[in-house]
Amino acid sequence: IPVDPFDLVIFGATGDLARRKILPGLFHRFQVGQMPAEARVIGSARSEMDRDGFRDFVRNTLIEFAPAAKADKALREAFLARIDYIPVDAAGADGWAALKAALRPDVVRAFYLSVSPALFGPIAARLHDHGVATPDSRIVVEKPFGHDLQTAQALNADLRQAFDEHQIYRIDHYLGKETVQNLMALRFANSLWEPLWNATHVDHVQITVAESIGVEGRGDYYDRSGAMRDMVQNHLMQLLCLIAMEPPSRFRADSVRNEKLKVIEALEPVPMSDIVRGQYRGRDGQGSYRDDVGNPDSLTESFLAMKVNIGNWRWAGTPFYLRTGKRLRARMSEIALVFRDPPHMIFPKMEGRRGNALIIRLQPDEGITLRNTIKEPGPGGFRLTEVKLDMTFAEALGPEAAPQDAYERLIMDVIRGDQTLFMRGDEVEAAWAWADPIIAGWEEAGPAPEPYDPGSSGPEDALMLLHRDGRRWREIA
Ligand code: BG6
Repeated sequence: IPVDPFDLVIFGATGDLARRKILPGLFHRFQVGQMPAEARVIGSARSEMDRDGFRDFVRNTLIEFAPAAKADKALREAFLARIDYIPVDAAGADGWAALKAALRPDVVRAFYLSVSPALFGPIAARLHDHGVATPDSRIVVEKPFGHDLQTAQALNADLRQAFDEHQIYRIDHYLGKETVQNLMALRFANSLWEPLWNATHVDHVQITVAESIGVEGRGDYYDRSGAMRDMVQNHLMQLLCLIAMEPPSRFRADSVRNEKLKVIEALEPVPMSDIVRGQYRGRDGQGSYRDDVGNPDSLTESFLAMKVNIGNWRWAGTPFYLRTGKRLRARMSEIALVFRDPPHMIFPKMEGRRGNALIIRLQPDEGITLRNTIKEPGPGGFRLTEVKLDMTFAEALGPEAAPQDAYERLIMDVIRGDQTLFMRGDEVEAAWAWADPIIAGWEEAGPAPEPYDPGSSGPEDALMLLHRDGRRWREIA
């Protein structure tokens, strides 16, 4: 179904995100017929490019990052016909009048700020002051949303000077992932799980977002952030919220976001003894974290594991163990709900039996596994063993169901005016209010991060975090 006609202005249109995600994403939506004939994408950057120059740039971008555009010239050129360019000085006064004049009054108007966060405030203000934004216009921004609570509040204040909260689309690209949205379908479109979805039945939850890549040329940014600011405060927090939240009364932006906010507000402070920070070493000619970021004294964590308690009726007594890191053994994101043992065991104990678990694999091998205990077939007494009920989305739904890229979905939601998968300002602030004292804890007194081998599952102490509670992590594989 095509969305309404729109003018989408991309600031920073020649940057990396635009090249890799936004422009190819828009092309794919065009390819499947979701972009109406009247839709226009207007690039904007400081450079004095003209429309043809920008179309050349987009053409090359698509050939590099959108295989379908490379293969189909006619389709590519049809898409390019919707591309325009208007140079604007984001931090100055030039170009704004021309931009205003170019925008059509009767179509959806959206501004995607694919620029350094330092420019979010200045651009928002200019869009407002030069009358480029209307009361219905949408503004799209992506993390980092501040560096701590104070800077996040300042950023929110800047945005709200020019735009209403209902116009602000804060991207957390994890919410755009098909499998992450599936968490909501799993929980709220099935009746099977809800009775079990609480501390009475769930022993603990594990959330793992492991990456095999390192900091990939983003050393400056990453070294100022670390795993807590880069991943936990946002992506892992969103996953935790979707698992932990109460059922919203409707699938509407504020109903969902109200419930997520309640979860964040219920998070308990995390003592240093429940936190393991790690930093990868160099090995076999591969640089260490410190080499990669060019800071020989860095104390920033490239790995973080922590035990998080949620202080509410549903979850008190069921810890959520979070873990994320770079240069780990594999790229693997999953959520595991590990259920409690049966209250009374009539069978002899079985070594290594891990009990029931529901494992939701987010990437790369998207699917759901339910771990069950059964009788081992054959004679030799009544022995128990584990089997998996396994579902992969690719097999169950076929290749057409391959998840679309998160950005495609999110950009179309912006045009539709649906904020369900975007973070509200108060959510962002609440997550910082939780994270700040934790970060302060290690910045003030905490030990240096523990070194770990690249290609491992993180520092030893991360294993201990669960062992000492009589639990163990699932393998990163
Ligand atoms: C980004 C982080 O937000 O998410 C990166 O800044 C990280 O450090 C990336 O690599 C992970 O996203 P994905 O979609 O590859 O899991």
